[in-house]
Amino acid sequence: MAAPATGAMTGGVGFRKWAGVAGGGTSQDLRTTPKASVTVAGVARSRETWSMDHATSPGPLRRIANLWALVDLPGALGRLQAGGRSARMDIGPYPVAYTGRPATVRALLDGRLEGMAERGRFYEDISRVIGRSSLVTCEGEKHRRLRRAVAPAFRREQVAAYGDLMVERASAMAAKWADGDRVALDKEMAALTLDIAARSLFGVDIAGELSEFSTILETGARIFYRLVLPRGLSDALWRNPYSPANQRLAAAQKRVDSFVSQLIAERRAQPHQPDGGPAPNLLDFLLAARDEDGAPLSDEEVRDQVVTFLFAGHETTAQALTWAFVLLSTHPEAERRLAEESRSLLGRSERDGRAESLAGKDLADLPWARAVTSETLRLYPPAWFLSREAATDTEVDGCPVAAGTLFLTSPLAVQRDPMYWERPLEFDPSRWLTQEVGAGPTEAYFPFGHGRRNCIGSSFALTEVPLVLATVLGQWMIDVAGAGTLKMRPTVTLRPRGHVYARVTRRDPPGP
Ligand code: HEM
Repeated sequence: MAAPATGAMTGGVGFRKWAGVAGGGTSQDLRTTPKASVTVAGVARSRETWSMDHATSPGPLRRIANLWALVDLPGALGRLQAGGRSARMDIGPYPVAYTGRPATVRALLDGRLEGMAERGRFYEDISRVIGRSSLVTCEGEKHRRLRRAVAPAFRREQVAAYGDLMVERASAMAAKWADGDRVALDKEMAALTLDIAARSLFGVDIAGELSEFSTILETGARIFYRLVLPRGLSDALWRNPYSPANQRLAAAQKRVDSFVSQLIAERRAQPHQPDGGPAPNLLDFLLAARDEDGAPLSDEEVRDQVVTFLFAGHETTAQALTWAFVLLSTHPEAERRLAEESRSLLGRSERDGRAESLAGKDLADLPWARAVTSETLRLYPPAWFLSREAATDTEVDGCPVAAGTLFLTSPLAVQRDPMYWERPLEFDPSRWLTQEVGAGPTEAYFPFGHGRRNCIGSSFALTEVPLVLATVLGQWMIDVAGAGTLKMRPTVTLRPRGHVYARVTRRDPPGP
């Protein structure tokens, strides 16, 4: 089950501390040792069990102690993972359970665990932002209908065709930098990935709406804890009209809604023409979709998919890119290799008479960039925990699970478990060189989930992340401030805490 052992990435690590980088520290610290391995205390530390009992419900004192999980959920899940079994971790009166056993995770995500609902209360809260008719939040037949409707936009040839645009937008972003600039990398990545998602999936420039999206995501990050609170309490917090967070969210959502409605109205007025003009995009597929009985998607369904794909299509990839730059900054050998890989293609493209820029089709010739992507998604999976809910009383691996239990698993905890990975905390892209990128060497790798609810945008992301890394690093050196001491901020996605600043230095053009 263990991943193949290959040479570890070593190399000097400068601890470059600049002002403005997030400080503080809990069990989510990211520290880089002089041997360039990444350690996160609290995850996979030992096989101790923590405030849980796999066979019975935890007693009252443990339930109270488990309230700490609301403050440090990754730490709590890491300790449950170290326990090695599916287990309950009731928080106060609220039943919560966890599995990190790969076989059980597969069964859970395949929908093979008896009594487990496809979604649950976590997704009910998410639907407050992206809608009840979103592909992410709905279940059963409705989910199947929507998945069929959006599938054509994610066919292999369609995604490959987005590659040129990804490179072009990454180059346009970097063209605004001056040599020696200090840039907020996390913000740059969010703007870039939103730009790419909006142009490729909907054919629009969304730069003017960027601040509404970041308001929604930032406010969502602040109230993340609501998503793991018992339903009654969470509902009360969401309903509170005096909450500044609710007010900010409502205002930003209203503006996003009006932008999306206008976009849909304009496309309905000028539908895609099959002959000539640009290829159809996701919005065209949504408007053209028909049921077996010939019915189109409702207005609400179209609207919810546009909002969903604008969010899901950019936030996760932005985090993946940011973490990749952080890791490469502390692993100069890996960064140099990626830059050289990219520059060798630039040199080739010059000889081919192409402009000095990568193209989407170069993805096949970027094995190291793809390996860096896979390894980043192993150590920092943006969707760091996945949740379901028990619909009826059931039992998982001998652990009794009551109806209404929030059932969790975590790519973050499983993908760092020494039971399944050799040198689990070491950033070693070379372990992926013998593997098909994205396929994963073991069942203990699922950054994109698994089964019928897996990520429909996985090939989009696995095209975008390596192409953006190669485009940027072929022309620039990216030196992330305090990269060795950055900490995780676990929200719906796994973000770095605070902004991530980087010094950008232009590389000389590739030689003849
Ligand atoms: C590195 C980037 C990404 C990661 C790590 C990621 C991760 C995931 C995961 C783990 C799930 C499954 C959630 C579950 O089972 O509860 C998921 C679902 C989903 N993702 Fe992604 N995602 C990424 C990029 C994207 C992109 C680029 C798009 C769209 C362009 C996208 C759209 C979606 C949608 C719509 C779903 C719901 C699918 C369904 O339920 O049928 N994701 N993603």
